[in-house]
Amino acid sequence: MIVDIHNHILPGIDDGPKSMEEALLLVKNAEANGVTHIIATPHLNDKYYTNALVIKEAVDELRRAISLNQLTIEVLLGQEIHFYNAMNVDKTNEFVTLGDNGNYLLLELPNDHLPHYTFELLFRLLQKGYLPIIPHPERNVVLRKKKQKVYELVEKGALIQVTASSVIGIDGYAAKRFTNDLIKHNLVHFIASDAHHHEAYPFLLVQAYQEVRKKFSDRQLSYFMKNAKHVINGTALHALPPIPFKKWKKSY
Ligand SMILES: [Fe+2]
Repeated sequence: MIVDIHNHILPGIDDGPKSMEEALLLVKNAEANGVTHIIATPHLNDKYYTNALVIKEAVDELRRAISLNQLTIEVLLGQEIHFYNAMNVDKTNEFVTLGDNGNYLLLELPNDHLPHYTFELLFRLLQKGYLPIIPHPERNVVLRKKKQKVYELVEKGALIQVTASSVIGIDGYAAKRFTNDLIKHNLVHFIASDAHHHEAYPFLLVQAYQEVRKKFSDRQLSYFMKNAKHVINGTALHALPPIPFKKWKKSY
């Protein structure tokens, strides 16, 4: 069982595939990567306003096409919620959790800053019983400069997902080094594809997992794979203890 917890595979509702034909090419690409379960996570942001009903209809349609084409992958509901939209935590019942089981929320940060309400929002979501997952910290300019901030996010209860392309090195050496550093400090809980297109932005999960096995260990690999299964099952994962980047001296 190989689970991808973040991708844009539903046709016509965000910047993923434009048609069912394209979506099926992406499904074939996922299957070629050994992926057995996909949590579809269309954007909820200023440009793409998805909601539970739209996502459910699109998932049902894709499932029908998958079965008609003798493909086997399982598609589940999810959503990638922009931090700005998540601010309205009283409306979280309108959000779609990963696997639609009420626990894990995929929360996308802006790339160009870390919102001042980040920690407060995490706190409020955790208080409501959600488990927030922050995807691709490697794209955020503040986190890239201050890895200790990633530690602080994890320490406060956030879970972190890096992108398969960053692990492999397709996004450049800096992104690869950054994600490796985070993995070494137990600050990564998931690797996911964030796939959008079968050629331009495909599933690269197998390559990323091979890289983890080569660079780290079988144990590290099974940690990532198990964590993704916890998301599908809606069960709590056992996170490795985060390691800070600096030792802060107490001042008296
Ligand atoms: Fe995404």
